[in-house]
Amino acid sequence: MSSCTPSNRIVRACRRESVDRTPVWLMRQAGRYMEEYRNLRMRYSILELIKAPELAAEVTLQPIRAFDLDAAIIFADILPPLEILGLELSFQKGEGPVIHNPIRSPQDVDSLKAPAVEEGLGFTLEAIRLVQQALAGRVGLIGFSGAPFTLASYAIEGGASRNYILCKRFMYEQPQAWHKLMGLLAEMVGRYLCAQATAGAQVLQLFDSWVGVLSPHDYRTYCLPYSRRAIELAQASGAPVIHFGTGTSGMLELIEEAGGDVIGVDWRIDIAKARALLSEDRAIQGNLDPVVLFAEPSVIRAQAAAILDAMAGRNGFIFNLGHGILPGTPVEHVSMLVDFVHEYAGR
Ligand code: CP3
Repeated sequence: MSSCTPSNRIVRACRRESVDRTPVWLMRQAGRYMEEYRNLRMRYSILELIKAPELAAEVTLQPIRAFDLDAAIIFADILPPLEILGLELSFQKGEGPVIHNPIRSPQDVDSLKAPAVEEGLGFTLEAIRLVQQALAGRVGLIGFSGAPFTLASYAIEGGASRNYILCKRFMYEQPQAWHKLMGLLAEMVGRYLCAQATAGAQVLQLFDSWVGVLSPHDYRTYCLPYSRRAIELAQASGAPVIHFGTGTSGMLELIEEAGGDVIGVDWRIDIAKARALLSEDRAIQGNLDPVVLFAEPSVIRAQAAAILDAMAGRNGFIFNLGHGILPGTPVEHVSMLVDFVHEYAGR
């Protein structure tokens, strides 16, 4: 029987094997709430940080040095893969990401480039190799990609959106072009995730951050086959896949049907209820509201304890937030949460 070490703790939890302590990591654990990150951002743009492997590796390691986390997540973003299709990406201050030539017609889909994943995204693969060397087996390393729907939503909307009207209209009115686009994204995402595993990522997370805007019917019709394809391709690497979405409480059985060794849930569902809805052959990740980290420590401890109590005695649980950590989160609260999870679960 293989034993649990700090570097395989998260992999073992993904596979629902026994662990010596509940693994914890936090989505967006590298970022603006950390002073070390803000200092680097004074000198480099976000895309410069992502595209210079040494800098991306450094940012990946910042939260590992600061907190007792069980996994690093490679510093990158879900949007650079759109660039290798020929879409032009920038990050505007205050506005978030912008795609300057969004997809608005079937012709736009036809003129997308065939994605050269290894060449076009080689900077992230190199960053993964550098982080693996630096970590030297101390903790696990997570690779990630945006899921086809969330990527399509940025490609079509051209940026963040409230109601996804352009994206959904395209889906309803141009189904052929939509399916072609989603097929292309699924292949790209699957290959990108595999390449990250080959470079040294032990766990892969698929971020379908905005998929909760779809009805269950539309998820099944327009999205599920492509998430499934991407996940199957990724799992062929041998690494376990975490399938994360927000707003998915009303269609968890469909998220599970699309696949993933681990299902990531947000805080809008009770974790015990999510656990009960999912099959026993899936692990679960979640689901503290990131805003709880702004509250005083006693509140944070009580809310984390409730999640840990609900999952007590079960294999296949990874503690995380229900979505990414927010800018302005007090660093000492993050540190306290991570230590609390370990102490409480280890009692
Ligand atoms: O988790 C990690 O620490 C790894 C790094 C990571 C980033 N983005 C770095 C980043 C990860 C996993 C992402 C994923 C990502 N990017 C998602 C899915 C996760 C989620 O939160 O739903 C999405 C939707 C994006 C797209 C994106 N990137 C947006 C909307 C923004 C702007 C947000 C803002 O508040 O300005 C980004 C930029 C970005 N990606 C930042 C970071 C640390 C902040 C930019 C900065 O430094 O100014």
